[in-house]
Amino acid sequence: MRALVLNGPNLGRLGSREPEIYGSASHDELANRCAQWGEELGLQVEVRQSDDEAELISWLHAAADSQTPVLLNPAAFTHYSYALRDACAALRAPLVEVHLSNPAAREEFRRTSVISGVASGTIAGFGLDSYRLGLLALAAMAG
Ligand code: DQA
Repeated sequence: MRALVLNGPNLGRLGSREPEIYGSASHDELANRCAQWGEELGLQVEVRQSDDEAELISWLHAAADSQTPVLLNPAAFTHYSYALRDACAALRAPLVEVHLSNPAAREEFRRTSVISGVASGTIAGFGLDSYRLGLLALAAMAG
């Protein structure tokens, strides 16, 4: 079964971006780990990253059309993008929202997710392991 991992703005800078919050692994390392975890779960995982809201939305539209399960880290769009939320609401397979950090324990503006209400569930605060746990949840739901 196919699964998409979509990463939003600034996540391409993982490794050098605020490593004390987001860890030292690069986006390439994250992508490799996700592919490996996916394989163990019987998921053929494709990882993509974009800083562009329109591109993320077009990937979500394609995932809706193909009924592909999605693991999404919306990054800063989590907190204000109704356009991303509407695209997520139209998905027809499970959606897991993931975060490396725990936004609920950070600045006030991060405590709101406009995505959570249309996700099957959310996993946050476990660094790269958030993705491993998210893929596990996705495989359980999709299977
Ligand atoms: C993040 C948390 C967001 O608040 C932030 O804007 C990000 C990353 C996370 O993975 O912890 O870019 O989604």
